[in-house]
Amino acid sequence: MSVEDKIRRLGELQRSAESAKAAEAKRQHAKGKLTARERIHMLLDESSFTELDAFVVHRTPGLESRRPEGDAVITGFGTIDGRRVFVFSQDFTVFGGSLGEVVAEKIVKLVDLALKMGAPIIGINDSGGARIQEGVVALGGYAEIFWRNTQASGVIPQLSVIAGPCAGGAVYSPAITDFTFMVEDISYMFITGPEVIRAVTGEEVTFEQLGGAATHNQKSGVAHFEAPDEATAYEQVRALLSFIPPNNLEDPPYYPSGDPPDRACEGIEGILPDSPSRPYDVMDVIRAVVDDGELLEVQAGWAQNIVVGFARLAGYAVGVIGNQPKVLAGTLDINASTKAARFVRFCDAFNIPLLTFVDVPGFLPGTNQEYGGIIRHGAKLLYAYAEATVPKLTVILRKAYGGAYDVMCSKHIRADFNYAWPTAEIAVMGPEAAVRVLHRRRIAEADDPEALTRQLIEEYRAEFADPYHAAARGYVDSVIEPCDTRRVLVHSLEMARGKREPTPPRKHGNIPL
Ligand code: HXC
Repeated sequence: MSVEDKIRRLGELQRSAESAKAAEAKRQHAKGKLTARERIHMLLDESSFTELDAFVVHRTPGLESRRPEGDAVITGFGTIDGRRVFVFSQDFTVFGGSLGEVVAEKIVKLVDLALKMGAPIIGINDSGGARIQEGVVALGGYAEIFWRNTQASGVIPQLSVIAGPCAGGAVYSPAITDFTFMVEDISYMFITGPEVIRAVTGEEVTFEQLGGAATHNQKSGVAHFEAPDEATAYEQVRALLSFIPPNNLEDPPYYPSGDPPDRACEGIEGILPDSPSRPYDVMDVIRAVVDDGELLEVQAGWAQNIVVGFARLAGYAVGVIGNQPKVLAGTLDINASTKAARFVRFCDAFNIPLLTFVDVPGFLPGTNQEYGGIIRHGAKLLYAYAEATVPKLTVILRKAYGGAYDVMCSKHIRADFNYAWPTAEIAVMGPEAAVRVLHRRRIAEADDPEALTRQLIEEYRAEFADPYHAAARGYVDSVIEPCDTRRVLVHSLEMARGKREPTPPRKHGNIPL
């Protein structure tokens, strides 16, 4: 066969594979889903995709009569905004996207490559799970992927898009990866499906209620991004990647902004209400400070008493954490602690400085929280902040009470620059609680207990609830005017670049899980 004939044969092979797929693509579209290949093209820069292992065929017993090339996953590499990524996309039109030996081998090869090359890996999941005909070989294939996800954790960013079913043990690959994106109506994740649940517990629940995008973005906290359609999900992936480096040895990309670094935050003083017990939206503060007022919020629908997300200061990516006074008064509860802890650890692993806005009256009281283990969950956030060695910048806006003051990136757990607005109240507890503890007997015996309580609260506030006691000890580096916040933070971040903080040698710490 001549060289030309051989090249022609390759073209014919590719065309025949594509025409066989046309009918299957129709079935996929009928389910409201894009095909595996369309997804990759929507996600990556135009014409940037190079496919790997397109000729791999399965060795599944009993399925010998049907051996489509590439089997049930498309793998390869390309670029997003010109930056390198590896990507796999499960193909539901081939044996329901089920994962057998060769699908696992293709994904494993890709994760290994991504790890070696130091580039992010993005997995698009749409699969009926372990290929039933392959039995334990399929289970082993999954475990090989889980092991690699774990090895790659903290070395390269790993992103999972759920664009179809993802059930049983298959959920554990996305669960180990850093961020999970879900699409309304077409994606679901669960350990045991509605039928098993009905048989075991008698509960009636639909796929969507059990494990749809809304469930995991608003109730369980399993997912990080919720999209109304696939196109939006891939836009979200692209946006997220713009904030994070390709691996743990590189810095996040720098995107210069027209927003002046020393811009005064006009009107920021007006955000805080006069009464310290009134809520406000911490997003307004964040937007007033960061470049162009843009924050890419992560887990926006879950544990809304804390806000986490990515933004930029003078072009440099930062991970922003802010207590949210308009939800549960900004208290820290189990979910908020877990959400922020995982975010802090991601940022620390990938060289993204932390910027924390504090307005926290304490941990949420209640038996639910105590029985649920707020002690160990709250400890996660404390631990995550304490172990983080990236630059850490903190601004106390208003309340910083009790243990939550320590937890929210205080100087004592090695924040680099701690600032406070003049409105900050840093104390062991809020004035009401403190007065009740200190003056219970006096109030009980008073002619007018309410008037005395009010007076004592005022006295306590005047005596303790300010930033100056902390500033006098250097726990707060400076009390700044709110309108100066951006300028001060930009300069502080500039000074913190190149920070080095040695840590004691050890195998790994033991974060309270
Ligand atoms: C082999 C499978 C398959 C599987 C689906 N197919 N799942 N083949 N192994 N796990 C095949 C179907 O036989 C069918 O083949 C084709 O894929 C499309 O499936 P449909 O059922 O027609 O699609 P749909 O109606 O959209 O339903 C999708 C589904 C359903 C809900 C995912 O297929 C389903 O329930 N599948 C089984 C899910 C499951 O229990 N998987 C094991 C989970 S446990 P034809 O030839 O007819 O087109 C697991 C453990 C992982 O995964 C462990 C890791 C540690």
